[in-house]
Amino acid sequence: SILIVDFGSQVTQLIARRVREAGVYSEIAPFQSAAEVFDRMRPRGVILSGGPASVADAGSPRAPQAVFDAGVPVLGICYGQQVMNAQLGGRVEKGNSGEFGEAYVAVDAGCGLFDGLWQEGERHQVWMSHGDHVAALAPGFRPVASSPGAPFAITADEERRYYGMQFHPEVVHTPDGGKLIANFARHVCGLAGDWTMAEFRATKIEEIRAQVGTGRVICGLSGGVDSAVAAVLIHEAIGEQLTCVYVDHGLMRAGESEQVVSLFRGHYNIPLVHVEAETLFMNGLAGVTDPEAKRKFIGKTFIEVFEEEARKIGGADFLAQGTLYPDVIESVSFTGGPSVTIKSHHNVGGLPERMNMKLVEPLRELFKDEVRDLGRELGLPEVFVGRHPFPGPGLAIRIPGEVTKERCDILRKADAIYLEEIRAAGLYDAIWQAFAVLLPVRSVGVMGDGRTYDSVLALRAVTSTDGMTAQAFQFPGDFLPRVATRIVNEVKGVNRVTYDYTSKPPGTIEWE
Ligand code: XMP
Repeated sequence: SILIVDFGSQVTQLIARRVREAGVYSEIAPFQSAAEVFDRMRPRGVILSGGPASVADAGSPRAPQAVFDAGVPVLGICYGQQVMNAQLGGRVEKGNSGEFGEAYVAVDAGCGLFDGLWQEGERHQVWMSHGDHVAALAPGFRPVASSPGAPFAITADEERRYYGMQFHPEVVHTPDGGKLIANFARHVCGLAGDWTMAEFRATKIEEIRAQVGTGRVICGLSGGVDSAVAAVLIHEAIGEQLTCVYVDHGLMRAGESEQVVSLFRGHYNIPLVHVEAETLFMNGLAGVTDPEAKRKFIGKTFIEVFEEEARKIGGADFLAQGTLYPDVIESVSFTGGPSVTIKSHHNVGGLPERMNMKLVEPLRELFKDEVRDLGRELGLPEVFVGRHPFPGPGLAIRIPGEVTKERCDILRKADAIYLEEIRAAGLYDAIWQAFAVLLPVRSVGVMGDGRTYDSVLALRAVTSTDGMTAQAFQFPGDFLPRVATRIVNEVKGVNRVTYDYTSKPPGTIEWE
């Protein structure tokens, strides 16, 4: 295994991800507790992460001395390289200007990290992001790659198997970064590279059992992939100590609620409370047209219904959530900063304190595609695992203006046709999210010999890697006209279909 010592970089979890991709198990420990974790883990290698501090400042974080005493290979990244140098007898200087962004390094010499990958004399793209730099190398080190701004871009002490990088190999802008990390894990540390999601599953099950003991856990299902994967994993760990609650607000897409219920009750036999609350939500949404008012009502009502059900089943000691790593970074970087609320996201924040529950979040270190892999590993059906993201407030934010049951039904029908055609064309997996929006606008049309005066529907499909930015998906030429014709012919109440080409920014993915 590999221990990753975290000095507070925004991208430490990406290092862990690259190590997982290399088929090697890793754990992340904050630098404050890294010594204890090192002792317990006895890892075959250590990676020191980047971080916001300056090694030259008094009191800045250090790596545990035990790491260097143990004689295991060490890879220092950015701050990690600087701290390793400083601790082993080199010198780090504060830069008055930093180096940020794309850079090219020249490979000046061979080293264990480059085996089968980089040759002397080649140039490779990397992603730099640093203020300070190593001014004098610690004894034993030599530079093996350099850039105009960083003479010590990569340094190596082959004898002790210590390596340092001034850039970030873990980010996608360093194209060979994953391979460099894999070389460190497998080649330098001698790890087999046969770790899989099956082992992640087994490890998490042990962790969940240790955390929960004989306590009771309640899990709110949203109908989406994350909460479903978390629930199935937790059920495997603690069985009947888990109860799932599915608050059905009647704002799901066609067939989705039935799918969730049959999956949990039928396929997995997981205790599930299905709360059919459509009427409650529809009544509350009557007359509400402001997007934020809709979101707030749905979020608040969701929590109230969930709390009531939790009380009915006698409460719980833990609340399980399918929080992913991107949710963690977003919520961290959004606190304290002067960021404005674009949309108030729907989640169950505030519930744990109100109900005095602790959190169980087994997916906290995973990225979306890894959660999908874990879902497959747990036997969740592919149609469920590969599903596009769906917002908590559901169809309500895809019906600008007032939401009624009738309009939800119209939207559900149109949306189902759109998605059916996307799947039939083999495009579903190429798209991040595709959906229809039912507009509060009517237009005149002609059908047969008669005049129609019905609603306009907008279709949207975007590509994205994380939902933070997005581009409109370009369908092949005959696709959209075909879908438009089908929708107008088959969905009563819609007589015109448009396509939304706006990217994010300046648009957002959802319309509200
Ligand atoms: P926007 O519209 O902000 O959406 O560009 C970005 C991504 O977030 C999803 N989304 C939500 N997800 N609760 C969620 O769980 C919400 O309240 C919510 N609002 C938007 C949206 O579908 C897209 O994937």
